[in-house]
Amino acid sequence: MKLLDKIGRDFSGYNILESGKRLLDRKPLQCSLYVTDRCNLDCAYCTEYDNSRPHPNLDDLKKWIRKIRELGTMRIALVGGEPLVHPNIVELVRYCRELGFATSLTTNGFLLTRKLLAELEDAGLQVMQISVDRMTPSPITKKSFKTILPKLDYFRDSKISLHITGVICADTLPESQAVLETGLSRGIPTEVRLVHADSLRRFRVDRGAREELERFIDSMIERKRRGEKIHTSEAILNYQRSLLRGEHVEWSCVAGYKLFFVSAQGKFWICSMVHTDKHIMDVTLDDLYANYRKKSCQEGCGVYCAVNASLLVEKPVAVLGKEIIARAKRLPSIWSRSSGSQISNLTRTGVTNPNDAQKMNGSTEGGPSADEGVTLRESA
Ligand SMILES: C[S@@+](CC[C@H](N)C(=O)[O-])C[C@H]1O[C@@H](n2cnc3c(N)ncnc32)[C@H](O)[C@@H]1O
Ligand code: SF4
Ligand code: SF4
Repeated sequence: MKLLDKIGRDFSGYNILESGKRLLDRKPLQCSLYVTDRCNLDCAYCTEYDNSRPHPNLDDLKKWIRKIRELGTMRIALVGGEPLVHPNIVELVRYCRELGFATSLTTNGFLLTRKLLAELEDAGLQVMQISVDRMTPSPITKKSFKTILPKLDYFRDSKISLHITGVICADTLPESQAVLETGLSRGIPTEVRLVHADSLRRFRVDRGAREELERFIDSMIERKRRGEKIHTSEAILNYQRSLLRGEHVEWSCVAGYKLFFVSAQGKFWICSMVHTDKHIMDVTLDDLYANYRKKSCQEGCGVYCAVNASLLVEKPVAVLGKEIIARAKRLPSIWSRSSGSQISNLTRTGVTNPNDAQKMNGSTEGGPSADEGVTLRESA
């Protein structure tokens, strides 16, 4: 990859120019669409899957996607359940791209094959989030590098930007550091984030020891400031630290306005935790704008994508400024890598020593830049 491309990708994660438009107008920036409720796994902390429901059909999904675009939405995140269990997932990605959406997909990666990744790339998918919680599976979560490490090789020459996200709870905490190192040491933007409660404020798993969690979040803040590819903003890391400390954070939730969710039944959801019975086909821009207000569920909210968008809308200069500075710190390493092979260590495997991932998986010298490289075909 050329040096300028690498630099471009390192600065493109926030999609600054395109997102900037949505900071100035009343249209939505992003929609998360549940392409199915069905899932091939059963993570103990998750409330977002339901295997009693059939997949929504392709025509309905396309109709909802058109409506989401007509509202002016720029980005679409295909989620679930597990999106890769939907039989038409490639066609759905292609359709989103044809309509001009910046398109991402979040997956547990279990059904990902080299062939499927190539098909998704051909359909125009730009970003894939693979969720990885541990180095090895446990009764709480099977999403581990044991399954995903051998698949990283598929991304060697792929245009799809990969990033990795893990959930931190008592079960995963002893391996969270190793998950982070394993992703970062391969040059993959990686994030691990605190488990959140369900809509009734119940945690389905033990959250872990507060001091240990705080130390870990602090270490991610440090690394983010040093320019490492922690795949979230410093604002969200600070927010998570405040959550742990029980500190109040001042913000106004933009969920239901700048970002919203559409269920696998086509219902308009304010966010993954707050649902409405209104159908997406009946939603207007005025309905969306009416959701621009502080919400009674804000205290302790763990819908980090919504908090992130809210902080961005509220304090764009502070949030984006810090992100730009953190990414600028990567430039010297991009420069030094540009003369060598762009493909470093994506494929080293070995998942036997979760407490010593650094040694186990090699040095921290970066691999290919994999930050979001999302561009829009045309403006909404
Ligand atoms: C609901 S899943 C759907 C996509 C896919 N099945 C997956 O696991 O990536 C989307 C993301 O939400 C995360 N998630 C689910 N329940 C969570 C919880 N209680 N706290 C934090 N993250 C959670 C998952 O780990 C995943 O990264
Ligand atoms: S794989 Fe994703 S949707 Fe399925 S249970 Fe786990 S977090 Fe939930
Ligand atoms: S505060 Fe959190 S839970 Fe409440 S609507 Fe906003 S994103 Fe959803």
